[in-house]
Amino acid sequence: MSRLKRRIFLSPPHLNGRELDMLREALESNWVAPAGPHLAAFERELCAVIGGGYGVALSSGTAALHLALRALGVQAGDRVFCSDLTFSGSVNPVLYERAEPVLIDSAPGGCNMDPKALARALHQAEKEDRLPKAAVIVDLYGQSADWRKLLPLCEAYGVPVLEDAAEALGASCADVSCGLFGAIGVFSFNGNKIITTSGGGMAVAHDEATAHRLTFWANQSKEAAPYYLHRELGFNYRLSNLLAGVGRAQLQTLKERVARRKEIYLTYQNAFAGLPLQMLPVPQGCTPNYWLSVALLEEDAPLSAQALIDLLEADNIEARRTWNPMHCQPVFRRFTYVTAADGISGSEDFFRRGICLPSGSGMTAEEQDEVIRRVCRALGGGAACG
Ligand SMILES: Cc1ncc(COP(=O)(O)O)c(C=O)c1O
Repeated sequence: MSRLKRRIFLSPPHLNGRELDMLREALESNWVAPAGPHLAAFERELCAVIGGGYGVALSSGTAALHLALRALGVQAGDRVFCSDLTFSGSVNPVLYERAEPVLIDSAPGGCNMDPKALARALHQAEKEDRLPKAAVIVDLYGQSADWRKLLPLCEAYGVPVLEDAAEALGASCADVSCGLFGAIGVFSFNGNKIITTSGGGMAVAHDEATAHRLTFWANQSKEAAPYYLHRELGFNYRLSNLLAGVGRAQLQTLKERVARRKEIYLTYQNAFAGLPLQMLPVPQGCTPNYWLSVALLEEDAPLSAQALIDLLEADNIEARRTWNPMHCQPVFRRFTYVTAADGISGSEDFFRRGICLPSGSGMTAEEQDEVIRRVCRALGGGAACG
């Protein structure tokens, strides 16, 4: 099998052709700055898609997490419980506020927060009289976290939840959309997400007052006065009207994008039957958005996750390791990491065995076949590998 001429990317932006119309409209009406009608429309339309909430369109998912932490009252010295297996953007805003993240392990064989580890951490924190001010819980890889267990635990200890649904737009569990489980939910529209504005994010609150507060802070906390008046610290975090237009166009084909990514996941799953790797299982009763197709190598696989990625790379195919747990990152290593049982780390095991396969909704069936054939060959697959 030779090196591919055209690179197969992990999850590139997938435009639908309507973005230009939205941009043209914004440019022709001169709504380039400071805000503009696409912003409010994007917020309204996204909330209609997820079935609730009040959206605030922001410059990134990280900015949305930052303001959401402030809205939950997180201050310097507070503890904030965070999913350990995630992208650093989930946890960085905790440090922006000089608060202290406590990293909670992921469930064995899964990617999301382990309710047993959370229960242990909450119990311990109560004993120390240092309960967290908030918990940032992630819906990783477009899969709903185990909200049926996580939410009652947080409620029992009076800990508000900030749902990091950056990767999970279009996913749901028990008919509730991801982004609506926590007190505030957050989405990202960066270039590799299921829909993109090139860069951008949105916070979704359950009440209008909180949404107004977030908008106010995102606009430099500029008071409604006839001159520049600032009583509070502000941030320049608003999404531009141009990019909100791109987001509106992208949102129109979200359903198709989810459907295509699901097809990609199922195609991998069928093709890999009998090989020493498993696709990340779908939690019961939940509907992922299948943002990335993640496979876990079994212990007896003939090569490591990194070796498989290197082989694919040599053929011009982009696959990636899964997120490297936060407790393994030099910047977060000094913070407490809590597992369900001593000496067993779900997130380290996931990182060691996990591989993110090309999952872009624009990938053709032929391109996916190329990926499958190479994975099969590397893992010693038989006739099914073609
Ligand atoms: C789980 C998670 N949280 C937070 C972020 C941060 O979002 P952004 O890149 O839009 O700042 C991302 C994505 O990039 C993410 O994957």
